[in-house]
Amino acid sequence: MITMSLWSKHAIFEKNSIVLVLGVMIVISIGGLVEIVPLFYLKNTIEKVEGVRPYSPLELAGRNIYVREGCYNCHSQMIRPLRDEVERYGHYSLAAESMYDRPFQWGSKRTGPDLARVGGKYSDEWHRDHLNSPTSVVPGTVMPAYPWLARNELDATHIAEDLKVQAALGVPYSKQMIESASTDLRIQATQDHPDSEEFAKRYPKAQARDFDGDARRITEADALIAYLQMLGTQVDFKLYDNKANIR
Ligand code: HEC
Repeated sequence: MITMSLWSKHAIFEKNSIVLVLGVMIVISIGGLVEIVPLFYLKNTIEKVEGVRPYSPLELAGRNIYVREGCYNCHSQMIRPLRDEVERYGHYSLAAESMYDRPFQWGSKRTGPDLARVGGKYSDEWHRDHLNSPTSVVPGTVMPAYPWLARNELDATHIAEDLKVQAALGVPYSKQMIESASTDLRIQATQDHPDSEEFAKRYPKAQARDFDGDARRITEADALIAYLQMLGTQVDFKLYDNKANIR
């Protein structure tokens, strides 16, 4: 008879839609709270990883060109922990590697390859030729040509503001970094400056050289190639070799 009385109580929910809706809401709220509340007690959802630093001004300018030209329509920057991806591109991407990416460049739709670890894979000359005329180095590629990048002088008049905006969004650019943004950009593209050491301290491991092969000018190609050549080079993966996560 106990079962009978339980059934009759359940009938309240079945015969009255308002009570049913309230019941459903209470049950879902409990489930939601169990999932969400613990997240508020986590200090950090991104594991700290040594070597990840904010983009240098020249790299940031290159990244802005990457976004402006829509390179993300064909390229992702997110290597998934799947065996075929890891064998093709290298260590799967860590959350920390894109912690200063605003906007992020993740994605699963690729017409071209993933670029998360393209830094150091090719020479600067290769990138220069490839951007200028992709078919000249990869016959049959569907990647469009971007010949104006090597022609256009880089407009870096707003680079300090760009750093400021990133800082407002949470990227740890110091006052000093913002103040010397223009100088730092010039140092990285020309290496010709008494403050080069200061620059190297501010942006460890930043590669400084003439990226586009035209030493007289700083072009958009200089910035974009500087950005491409640093992608995936910040973290020393001997320290983070965790094959167990690969499926
Ligand atoms: C219409 C799609 C498309 C767009 C847009 C595009 N790419 Fe590509 N990209 C490709 C394809 C396909 C390949 C592979 C063949 C090749 O190397 O050209 C490729 C290859 C590359 C590679 C070599 C990657 C490797 O590991 O071999 C780089 C670097 C690259 N693209 C950079 C860029 C940049 C920078 C932009 C924006 C200025 C861009 N791409 C825009 C399709 C595209």
